[in-house]
Amino acid sequence: MKELTLTNSLQTDKDKQKQETLKDAGEIPLHIAIIMDGNGRWAKSKGSIRLHGHKVGVDSVRDITESCAQLGVKYLTLYAFSTENWGRPSKEVRGLMKLLVSSLRKEAENLNKNDIRLATIGQMDRFPKECKKELQEAIELTRDNERLELCLALSYSGRWDITEAVKKIAHHVKDGRLDPDLINDQMISDHLSTASVPDPDLIIRTSGEYRISNFLLWQLAYSELYITKTYWPDFRRDELYEAIRSYQQRDRRFGKLNSTEDEKSFSSRFFNKKS
Ligand code: FPP
Repeated sequence: MKELTLTNSLQTDKDKQKQETLKDAGEIPLHIAIIMDGNGRWAKSKGSIRLHGHKVGVDSVRDITESCAQLGVKYLTLYAFSTENWGRPSKEVRGLMKLLVSSLRKEAENLNKNDIRLATIGQMDRFPKECKKELQEAIELTRDNERLELCLALSYSGRWDITEAVKKIAHHVKDGRLDPDLINDQMISDHLSTASVPDPDLIIRTSGEYRISNFLLWQLAYSELYITKTYWPDFRRDELYEAIRSYQQRDRRFGKLNSTEDEKSFSSRFFNKKS
């Protein structure tokens, strides 16, 4: 692993201290997924154009990526452009593509120096040539990095992901290589675009909407949710720490009982009632 002194980082001693306190307080999620929302409303509230919101949103991407790497988060998945976003006015779509290209040009080397691996999920073939080229180069440059995987969901939707997995599995059945009775949860997970990545532990949505918006539909089955009213351009590391503190207080049972203690108290309550 490369030495991590995040270049361009102006990390204060106070921030280092906050991170240490957070690490001591409990588990840091292995995988955080974020629905970055509210760029347009943020811009409107400042009397500015939507693209300005997206531009400042890139500063949040940088700050959150950097703080995740420092905290020891291993996977960060950002919903940067949904399948449905193609339906926005072409001027905004073009602006977002340009912003993606310029951000990659500016940040690829920095990601590499900081041992961060870039990945994407989604229908990359729908992207303009220049965007694909820039992404491929950044992915290639950072492919051996180990500290954190930054995955951009681009032209992504959860239903698209599941549909593609179903198609692949159906082909195995058609070719006589798979008995349909052997299809199980794990097999479906293994055919999704996130096959190599553990399911998110924590999903954050900014801008106060209580929706999943076709994000990682299969993968979010047992993720903990954190929703904040803060618009994405204002979402910076202090609020990330707040989300992680909230995560650390959750009792993750994955549909089961957590400890023998719980089991004992459940069975005694259950049998006492029965007897
Ligand atoms: C949602 O806000 C945000 C997006 C659709 C785009 C997110 C993109 C960025 C933060 C910049 C590019 C990203 C990278 C990784 C370089 P919205 O436009 O839906 O806001 P609204 O709901 O207030 O209208």
